[in-house]
Amino acid sequence: MSHAAANTDNWAEVKAAAEAVLPEHIVAFIEQNAKNAHSESQLIAILHLVQSHFGYLGQEQMHAVAQLAQIPYAKVTGVATFYHYFRLQPRGKHIINVCMGTACYVKGADKLSQRLMDELGIHFGETTKDMMFSLESTRCLGTCGLAPVIMVDDQVYGPVTPAEASIILEKYLKKGKLPKASEAKA
Ligand code: FES
Repeated sequence: MSHAAANTDNWAEVKAAAEAVLPEHIVAFIEQNAKNAHSESQLIAILHLVQSHFGYLGQEQMHAVAQLAQIPYAKVTGVATFYHYFRLQPRGKHIINVCMGTACYVKGADKLSQRLMDELGIHFGETTKDMMFSLESTRCLGTCGLAPVIMVDDQVYGPVTPAEASIILEKYLKKGKLPKASEAKA
């Protein structure tokens, strides 16, 4: 889409282009809150809507927000990059979270992390090229008795050795679904 700033001459065109990128409910939200859109809290609310719809904040979506809300693009990206909960890259179909809390760390979360990074060929915060997995680290998941723990989507596994982490990935890739926790420990 065009990144040119909107003016009275091209507003209809710019608006139509932005509306083509964003879903109807987000366009409506931006328009309803047009008067407040310059406040950071309102911009954050808009970006939350965009992220929950697309899974991340892409450049195209951020440009559309800037155009429709009449906010400088630099302000939109500034807010998007400042807050950790905004993601600027698409995430994989499945999110692997490795707990790096104290209990898990003491029980070998670093070796577990290394194994996952080696297997997947990515680091924390990255996504595999096939968009199957994203690897992330997290603080205590509240299941320290199972340390070291990983969570894949909403399923918690523990205790998991590096070898078992490979089995979880392998079974998942072969069967298209995750094994039960008991299988992962076999
Ligand atoms: S430290 Fe990992 S679950 Fe608590």
